[in-house]
Amino acid sequence: MADFVGAIDQGTTSTRFMIFDRAGHEIGRHQIEHRQILPGAGMVEHDATEIWENTLKTITVALADTGLGPADLAAIGITNQRESALIWDRATGQPCHNVIVWQDTRTAGVIPSLDADLISEKTGLPPATYFSATKVTWMLDNVPGLRKRAEKGEVLFGTLDSWLIWNLSGGRHLTDVTNASRTMLMNLMTLDWDDELLALFRIPRPMLPEIRSSAELYGHAEAILPGVPIAAAIGDQQAALFGQTCFEPGEAKCTYGTGNFVLLNTGTTPVRSTHGLLTTVAYQFGTGAPIYALEGSVAATGSAVQWLRDQLGIIDSAGASEELAGQVEDSEGVCFVPAFSGLFAPYWRPDARAAIVGLSRYHTAAHITRAALEAICYQTRDVMVAMALDAGTELDCLKVDGGVTANALCMQLQSDILGVPVSRPAVAETTALGAAYAAGLAVGFWKSPDELRANWREDRRWEPSWTQQRRDEGSTRWRAAIDRTLDWVSV
Ligand code: G3P
Repeated sequence: MADFVGAIDQGTTSTRFMIFDRAGHEIGRHQIEHRQILPGAGMVEHDATEIWENTLKTITVALADTGLGPADLAAIGITNQRESALIWDRATGQPCHNVIVWQDTRTAGVIPSLDADLISEKTGLPPATYFSATKVTWMLDNVPGLRKRAEKGEVLFGTLDSWLIWNLSGGRHLTDVTNASRTMLMNLMTLDWDDELLALFRIPRPMLPEIRSSAELYGHAEAILPGVPIAAAIGDQQAALFGQTCFEPGEAKCTYGTGNFVLLNTGTTPVRSTHGLLTTVAYQFGTGAPIYALEGSVAATGSAVQWLRDQLGIIDSAGASEELAGQVEDSEGVCFVPAFSGLFAPYWRPDARAAIVGLSRYHTAAHITRAALEAICYQTRDVMVAMALDAGTELDCLKVDGGVTANALCMQLQSDILGVPVSRPAVAETTALGAAYAAGLAVGFWKSPDELRANWREDRRWEPSWTQQRRDEGSTRWRAAIDRTLDWVSV
């Protein structure tokens, strides 16, 4: 009898394989980073072959390290960076172009001409470079001969879940409803590809994967784990919502990764946003009703800290940002708006560019680093304010997870800036855990969501310490910095 469930977490900067036991405890993991290919300003690509090879390596090493084999795994789940688009050859399995990553803004020029009402009515999304559709059109229009081959059904489109399922299962072309909901091609009510949108983006239907629920049998992972069912596929932010056991309407979480994503479970009703949030599918189990979410997506959070490390060189590691930012009491008027990929929710301005404002000669690397941490928290606040307006309720506590939550100073700032407690669970890898939970439920390894909820434990909580006056002043300054970023665009 298999005692464990595995999860592939194919993220924006790395791929990891994690193994969990029945109590939701981590038994083993291996993680490998992949290259960020930056062919020009605003462009971000990944090598799909590198990602596939890394996936195989992470599974091999994690199993070797733990002394486990395929027979020990009841199932695996797949979770992935969403929206990033790939086209590959149906016959050879070779990618036809690099993955165009969700952060890539090369298609910004076409966004203003799109019918925002039509797109948001059908998909729950505002037209934006963020989603897959314009990336697919760009490849079909720019890779010689690709459109003709797509029309003949010779090439396939997929997000990274589809790429991994296809490779693992020996050629099944599938996706799940959460990933499909981020392509800007799926109708949120029918949960099927929408012919009017396919025509609008000139995307041939034969290249699209079949849309399935998030937890069911997708095939077996014969390429590396003979006999092990692939029993879940779910976008990484939706997986984190699941891993945080936010199963009830009104429950929400915030995951801090490359970007920063707040999702609020709204139950079986898709809530339409009038404040710049996305309406998206949270998950669907087998033949069960789809569960929807409101989402506030922020493009750059962890990547702002990485930029301080890699491009400015003022810290050696992301972790060092806590110590450096802690050397000063506050950012002393400096604001950093990390709009490297434009501004996502609630602004939706692909043309915005990053800015650091309020500098004097007195300011140091410590102030800029502190401003970067504050930016993570103010961006979260912006989407939380929008969420409260859309949902008509305010959260009394924010469940958090992801890499940045290791930074205690940033989490304290988050609580101060929001004015509510911030709570981190014992298993911080909620994305992988959520995919494992979904797969485990699908094969009966776990019997019910209640069993999963019983696994959730708080590890640490931060309580707000600022006065309301300080909170208001900070928000006003942040809003002024956002306005400067937008002003710059029109200069
Ligand atoms: O929508 C993009 C998101 O899925 C990426 O998440 O954790 O890879 O930054 P992450």
